[in-house]
Amino acid sequence: MSLDHTAIDAAARALEQGALVAFPTETVYGLGADAENPAAVAAIYAAKGRPQDHPVIVHLAPDADLDYWAADIPSEARQLAAAFWPGPLTMILKRAAHIPDAVSGGQETVGLRCPSHPVAIALLQAFKAGKGGVAAPSANKFGNVSPTTAQHVRDEFGADGSVAMVLDGGASEVGIESTIVDLSRLATHGPVLLRPGHISAEAIAAVIDRLPAPPDVAAPRASGTLESHYAPHTPVAMQDSATLKATLARLQQAGRKVALIHYSDLPEAHAQVRLPTSPDGFAHALYASLRAMDHTGADLILVEAPPQGGAWLGVNDRLRRAAHGSAGIVHGLLNQQPPA
Ligand code: TXA
Ligand code: MG
Repeated sequence: MSLDHTAIDAAARALEQGALVAFPTETVYGLGADAENPAAVAAIYAAKGRPQDHPVIVHLAPDADLDYWAADIPSEARQLAAAFWPGPLTMILKRAAHIPDAVSGGQETVGLRCPSHPVAIALLQAFKAGKGGVAAPSANKFGNVSPTTAQHVRDEFGADGSVAMVLDGGASEVGIESTIVDLSRLATHGPVLLRPGHISAEAIAAVIDRLPAPPDVAAPRASGTLESHYAPHTPVAMQDSATLKATLARLQQAGRKVALIHYSDLPEAHAQVRLPTSPDGFAHALYASLRAMDHTGADLILVEAPPQGGAWLGVNDRLRRAAHGSAGIVHGLLNQQPPA
């Protein structure tokens, strides 16, 4: 991809002046602000409608100085940065003293990540001559599906004027948010996997010789780990292939409009998108598919449950959260009269 350096430089200057800039990463699009400007970071929270006590990830250029951003850095963090950065891994570390509360959500930690998308890297290198940090959550309103294209970002924020610029870097390759590993309590709790993603716990273990554990009750809070998150406006239900086939037939008989997200052979529905059967291909297309099916006027988005197992962990995690709270929805649709 040829980079639009004029746009990237303009975006870097806008960030330096305290404005919000949306930019592509290999996972999802981020809504960025100068991590060292508390007013700019506060503007992210306002634009997203996000609670103030949720920390944001700080994005760094590839040759950034980890010691500037974090304190008491364990050797494991340096090993993981060497192995996976630039790339879809966020590390939670003890924060350096000058990290604003707005970034850490008032916690004693900071989340750091060096993204691999060429536009993100160019932006981080142009911003404060590569010495800055860009605080960026996913560029969506709180609780919504994360954006994987520039158009998704415009659909979320286009009307409200809160975002100065949207850099376009095409469709995000990975498609789901970065893996988050907590290394801030290594001595007492070991590494903890706060959010599964493209980089698996096994891949992390291969580098640091310790398998990250699932989150414990004392683990740092992460909004992406709320039970309900990443959800479209249309209710989402997830069922295994056989159950789904029967449900689809009954719903259609009851006059309901079903939008399907599936990967095996299934009958025609009101709308549908068929995804690749590989975990990487499925993840890449998942959020765009949820958004597309959300705009079909369906009563329900029915998702064919992907296989369980290691490489599918990230996809299953996001789908479970998207479907959270829609447990009774299929039953309800079958047992109430559809609108005339
Ligand atoms: O792939 C990604 O990580 C994308 C792109 C833009 O880099 N960003 C992203 O940001 O997903 P966000 O804010 O939507 O999700 C980041 C998660 C949140 O659940 C947040 O609470 C958690 O990371 N987080 C950030 N800093 C943290 C910290 N210091 N301690 C615990 N959790 C943290
Ligand atoms: Mg998010």
